[in-house]
Amino acid sequence: MRTQVAIIGGGPAGLLLSQLLHLKGIDNVVLEKHTQEHVLGRIRAGVLEQVCVDLLDDAGVGQRMHAEGLVHEGFDIAFDGRLERVDLRRLTGGDAVMVYGQTELTKDLMDVLAAADKNPVYEAEDVCPHDFDTDHPRVTYRKDGREIEVQCDFIAGCDGYHGISRASAPKNVLREFERVYPFGWLGVLSNTRPVSDELIYVNSERGFALCSMRSHEISRCYVQVSLDDTLEAWPDERFWDELKSRLPEAVADTLVTGPSIEKSIAPLRSFIAEPMRFGRMFLAGDAAHIVPPTGAKGLNLAASDVRILSQALIEYYEEKDAGLLDRYSDLALNRVWKSERFSWYMTNLLHKFTADPFDYKMQLSELDYLFKSEHAASALAENYVGLPIEGL
Ligand code: APR
Ligand code: PHB
Repeated sequence: MRTQVAIIGGGPAGLLLSQLLHLKGIDNVVLEKHTQEHVLGRIRAGVLEQVCVDLLDDAGVGQRMHAEGLVHEGFDIAFDGRLERVDLRRLTGGDAVMVYGQTELTKDLMDVLAAADKNPVYEAEDVCPHDFDTDHPRVTYRKDGREIEVQCDFIAGCDGYHGISRASAPKNVLREFERVYPFGWLGVLSNTRPVSDELIYVNSERGFALCSMRSHEISRCYVQVSLDDTLEAWPDERFWDELKSRLPEAVADTLVTGPSIEKSIAPLRSFIAEPMRFGRMFLAGDAAHIVPPTGAKGLNLAASDVRILSQALIEYYEEKDAGLLDRYSDLALNRVWKSERFSWYMTNLLHKFTADPFDYKMQLSELDYLFKSEHAASALAENYVGLPIEGL
């Protein structure tokens, strides 16, 4: 079998790249290890930057997002008995974010690909990239017991943090940077009305909390937990009690609780792999970098990688110009590091790292400064709505 671009991984990065290339007549195939149901079963963040919204529109999958997604012009931070609003629209001169679940966005991409008869290959076993240091890269995999080889011009490694693409990169070229945080997030999805119209990020003496949502009827809330915590130790009642204890009293009093429909614990990590290109293999999304979820940047970074990579491949095929492909790694990493910095900053600002009161006082001082200084608040806001992609 032959294609132009072999895409490993059918998460949001791989599906979005596939659709953008199909729209330009560039032949490609997505090889996904799991079933479609498994991919759709993963509950992840749901705050989209304008860069991501625009890209979904370009991909022709923005319709349901615009109809059902919620435009958020600000969010709250609760700390030290205060509840302060970050007015994104005012502080950025007009920008906002879109609240629309990653699961929904993934489903929209699957539907549009299926309608065009461009379905990914699901349950592709032992996917493996080869010869990407030559002009004739290949990807092999097994499906229903048959060995299949895909010859291609390029390989896109969109297979997430645990994927095979980065693991296949030459060890003497690959550099990895990492910070593992000493806590995790316990997340609960519930069919309950969100406690507020906007997100509330909470710095409390008991640890971080977040009240987010998927719609006007579905809440997604989190509390910081220790790394050795288990789901068994957190029945719904304990979760809601803990969340209430971290919220300002007036907010806690109006919190509607209900049975969880999904509950999970995720560790927090910052991770960056450099470079993002190895010959004819390009990494995009979680395959190349992980952010702690505090800045809501994971999906958005995957989208900005795909924005650059899709344009680079389109210029290669339409204009015979490999210039942008050559710059892909540098351009993508420039934005990756800025989002990594912001996610790390938000994580440091809002979580309880130690029992040392000095650390807590430092956080409170920084938070107070944020709401006294327009400059500081603007810096936070412009990062939250998403920085521009430089050099495109
Ligand atoms: N072969 C084929 N597919 C693989 C392999 C493999 N060896 N390893 C992993 N995959 C698949 C996974 O099953 C998954 O569906 O690659 C896909 C990667 O998807 P994601 O992990 O969702 O990563 P990405 O598409 O980059 O999306 C980034 O996801 O984790 C969140 O916060 C992150 O929201 C961000 C988004
Ligand atoms: C979510 O809704 O799951 C969410 C929102 C904002 C974040 C992280 C997660 O920063």
